[in-house]
Amino acid sequence: MASMEDIISLCKRRGFVFPGSEIYGGLANSWDYGPLGHLLKQNIKAAWWKFFVAEREDMVPLDTAIIMNPKVWEASGHIQNFSDPLVECKSCHRRFRVDHLLEARGAEPDYDKETPIDIRNLRCPECGGELTDPKQFNLMFKTFIGPTEDESSVAYLRPETAAGMFVNFKNVLNVTRRRLPFGIAQIGKNFRNEITPGNFIFRTREFEIGEFEYFIRPQGWEEVFEMWLKEISRWWGDVMRINLDNLVWHEIPAADRAFYSRRTVDIEYKYPFGVKELHGIAYRTDYDLSRHEERSGQDLHYTDPVTNERFIPHVIEPTFGLDRMLLVSLLEAYREEEAPTAVEGETEKRVVLKFPRHLAPIKAAVLPLSKKPELNAVARPLAQALRRRWMVDYDETQSIGKRYRRQDEIGTPFCITVDFDTLEDKKVTVRDRDTMEQTRLPIDDVAHYLSERLET
Ligand code: GAP
Repeated sequence: MASMEDIISLCKRRGFVFPGSEIYGGLANSWDYGPLGHLLKQNIKAAWWKFFVAEREDMVPLDTAIIMNPKVWEASGHIQNFSDPLVECKSCHRRFRVDHLLEARGAEPDYDKETPIDIRNLRCPECGGELTDPKQFNLMFKTFIGPTEDESSVAYLRPETAAGMFVNFKNVLNVTRRRLPFGIAQIGKNFRNEITPGNFIFRTREFEIGEFEYFIRPQGWEEVFEMWLKEISRWWGDVMRINLDNLVWHEIPAADRAFYSRRTVDIEYKYPFGVKELHGIAYRTDYDLSRHEERSGQDLHYTDPVTNERFIPHVIEPTFGLDRMLLVSLLEAYREEEAPTAVEGETEKRVVLKFPRHLAPIKAAVLPLSKKPELNAVARPLAQALRRRWMVDYDETQSIGKRYRRQDEIGTPFCITVDFDTLEDKKVTVRDRDTMEQTRLPIDDVAHYLSERLET
């Protein structure tokens, strides 16, 4: 597998991810998606949406506000409980999450699982200094609404999209007339004032989540949970097409679960920096809707149209960090291979991102062999015609070998070369990113050739 250094350097070099606010010296742990990163993220979102929402008859979409009434976060428990234990080094004053320090000690070679680590024995990982006692640090990003900055104008940027779906449960039910089971899904930005962000886009203070609340009756929740575990496995295997051996399905023991959850599974991934959470799924019982009903005073019950039975629906919540999915897609796609050069029998190293074709940011590159106007006259209209259906690059500078390497490095599945023979035979050469095989075919057949390979 690629190292994080390989990925970070490729992302910067080719325009997947840039350090945030770079010309002002950056902002720690803030990242901007460049042209290719934006396209890759769009493709992952589109695939997620298609798989979990559009192709299912039991899902409805939603897009709710980032800033909500603060009472929402009181009801959800975020204002009181959404915190991490923080310690500060008495010498260098760096701050750390206690659970991360304990986790790091647990991973040390001489760690004995039977002996719990005593917080008092922890030292600063940076300078070895003594640490303060742990304090709870709330992760909510505070802001103010309107011109005055006092307690009455305090608001928060949402830390998750879920609340928007719970507070709109009745609205959605009324307008869609859905029956249980059904889900409400959305994708959106979230904000958490993380104490120790890091590992590139793995943990940041601003990130995107795709998640859904799947409303059910409590009876038979176990089967529904299993159904979603299977769907999640299909998502990773059939759509994201990752090596499933790199996933770890971590059943969270009762003692570590939120008190209202009867089952939680963290789907972890073997990142270069260790096995860590990729995303999760939790059975949250009727906790969320009950809390919102209690705090808002609004009736959030569901009435079964056949039996007239009235109850608060329970919920299963699969949640997916989009930035982590993007990181995994890069780690899985990255390869370093020996590839033949123009000189017979010689090879050179090529870096290639072997994305599944539907995720590749650019689907094809049109490469005229030289900048000569007669080649341009054929190549540009071809690129323009293909752009009606796909993201297509056009590149006429440098040697053809270098241009192939560039497209390999950004994961473009097909390169289409227009050469001087094209002017005579009206044919182009299509090169496959993975096999490097070249196929000569009529210009008029290119769109069909690509659609057969990109849209299946
Ligand atoms: N509504 C449930 C919820 O928000 P979560 O595990 O706190 O659950 C959901 O967050 C997902 O968001 C995580 O599984 C992870 O993929 C992603 N995530 C959480 N914190 C993140 C951060 N600071 N940076 C990037 N992604 C994050």
